[in-house]
Amino acid sequence: MPGKIIIFDTTLRDGEQSPGASLSSAQKLIIARELEKMKVDVIEAGFAISSPDDYKSIQDISSALKDTTVCSLSRAVEKDIAASAGALAAARHKRIHTFIATSPVHMKYKLRMSKDEVVSNAVGAVKLARGYCDEVEFSCEDATRSDKKFLCEIIEKVISAGAGIINIPDTVGYSYPEEMGELISYLLTNVKNSHKAVFSVHCHNDLGLGTANSLAAVLAGARQVECTVNGLGERAGNASLEEIVMALKVRFPKIKTGVDTHAIARVSGMVSHMTGIVVQPNKAIVGANAFSHEAGIHQDGVLKKAQTYEIMKPEDVGISGSQLVLGKHSGRAALAKKFKDLGFQVAGDKLDAIFAEFKKLADKKKKVYDEDIIALIEKDMGRRDGFELKNFEVHTTPSGSKGKVTLKKAGKIFKGEAAGDGPVDSVLKAVEAVSGRKGVLTDYQVKSITVGKDAQGEVRLRAAFGKKVLAGVSSSTDIIEASILAYLSALNKLELRNIKT
Ligand code: KIV
Ligand code: ZN
Repeated sequence: MPGKIIIFDTTLRDGEQSPGASLSSAQKLIIARELEKMKVDVIEAGFAISSPDDYKSIQDISSALKDTTVCSLSRAVEKDIAASAGALAAARHKRIHTFIATSPVHMKYKLRMSKDEVVSNAVGAVKLARGYCDEVEFSCEDATRSDKKFLCEIIEKVISAGAGIINIPDTVGYSYPEEMGELISYLLTNVKNSHKAVFSVHCHNDLGLGTANSLAAVLAGARQVECTVNGLGERAGNASLEEIVMALKVRFPKIKTGVDTHAIARVSGMVSHMTGIVVQPNKAIVGANAFSHEAGIHQDGVLKKAQTYEIMKPEDVGISGSQLVLGKHSGRAALAKKFKDLGFQVAGDKLDAIFAEFKKLADKKKKVYDEDIIALIEKDMGRRDGFELKNFEVHTTPSGSKGKVTLKKAGKIFKGEAAGDGPVDSVLKAVEAVSGRKGVLTDYQVKSITVGKDAQGEVRLRAAFGKKVLAGVSSSTDIIEASILAYLSALNKLELRNIKT
C-alpha cells in the first residue's frame, strides 16, 4: 500500500507531559528547529491555554518555523481555541487541534455529558477553530474504548463542520495491533464522508504496543501518525517517532515519510539531555546497545557481512556522525557554530559577551553541554530568573555533614546552610533553605563521563516538588558541585515558570 505518511510530532506537548520532562521555552524552540530540519511534517508545540509559558513557546515556534506546520492543542472549549489561534498567529503553516472524549467512561464520569452534548461541543469547536484556521484536527479522546457507531456519528459531523484531520487516539494504550487496524478500516468504510479527511492515530504505550498499533493503523489506511522522540509522553509514553519511521523504512519502503533519518540519533540525544530522561540502553533504534553486538558469533557474523545481524545501518540513523562537544579549548568560532547548530543567530558584541561567560564556565567544567549553552542564551535573553551557584562548602565527619551554599538570583546573593546525612544531602538541604522549595529525590545517579582521576561526574536526578516531578542534569569534576547544579537545574524550572508547590 504505497503512500506518504504525515509525521506529527508531539514531543513538546504529550512528550512534555512525561513526569519530570519539563522544558524551558528556549529548549523547546531548539527542539522544534531540529525537528523542522529533520523534516517532520507537523509539530504540536504545546497546549496554549495550559500556561503562559506554553502560549509563549507556541508563539516563538510559530515565528521561527518556515516549512513545518505548527499545531496547538485545545479542548473543545471556546477559550482554548481562541488561545491556540492567538498563539499560532505568526505561523506560516498552522493547525488547531481540538479534542473531546467519546468513550462511555469518560463521557459519564469525567465530562458528565450526554452523547448529544459531546457531539454538539465537538461540532461547535471545529466550526470555531475553522473560523481562525484552515487546518483543523479533531481527536476523539479514548477512541479505542468508544462505541464504534458513535465514533462514526461524531466523526461524520466534525468532518462536515470542517475538520480535515481525524485523529483516533488509543489514549490509555489499551488496544492491540489487529484491533487497531480493524478500527481504522471500519471507520474508513463506515464514515460516509471519510474520503474528505486524513485519518490519524495517536497510540500510547501502556502495554508496549504503541509502535505496533500505529503501524497496524497505517497498514489499514491511516495517513498520519502522532509520535514523540524517544517515545516520551504520559505514563508509559507514546509511540516513538524513530521506531515508526525506521519500521516503515525497513519493512514497508513504499510507504514513505519525509523524515531525514540521519538526524534521528542527534535529535534523540538532544531530547534526552534536555529533558533529563535517559534512553534505556536496549531501546530500539536509539538505545546505546541498539547497534552493538556482544556475542562472539554475532561479532564474527557482522564482521563478515553486516546484514547477518543488522537489519539497518547505524549510519542510517546518524549514529556514526561526530558531535561537536565544547570545552575550555573551544574558541569563538566553535561557539558561534554551536549557536548556529542550535538555531540561534549570535554574532558581534553579543557573541563576545556570551563567549566571555562561556570561557568562565568552561574553566570550571571540562565538557560544556548544549544545556549549558542554552542557559547562557537564556541568561542573555533575560529569561533566566533562577538560582545560580556562586559557592559551596561542605564538612563531613562520621557523625554527619554540614553544607553551606551561596546562590545568586536576580542580582542578589543568598546564603544558606544545613546539616544532613552525608555531603550531598547537606548541600541540597542548604539549597532548599535558600530557595524555600523542598524537593524529594526520587532518582539520583552519578556516572563518570570522562576518564582519569579528574574524571567528570555527571549527575542525573529527579526531584518531586509537591506533585511536580522535575529532572535535572549537570556535570563537574566535583560530584557535590554536579549534584547542586543538577538540583538547581530541576528547581529552576519551577522558578522560571513561577510554579507554586
Ligand atoms: O492521548 C490522547 O488522547 C491525547 C489527545 C489529546 C490527542 O493526547
Ligand atoms: Zn496522548
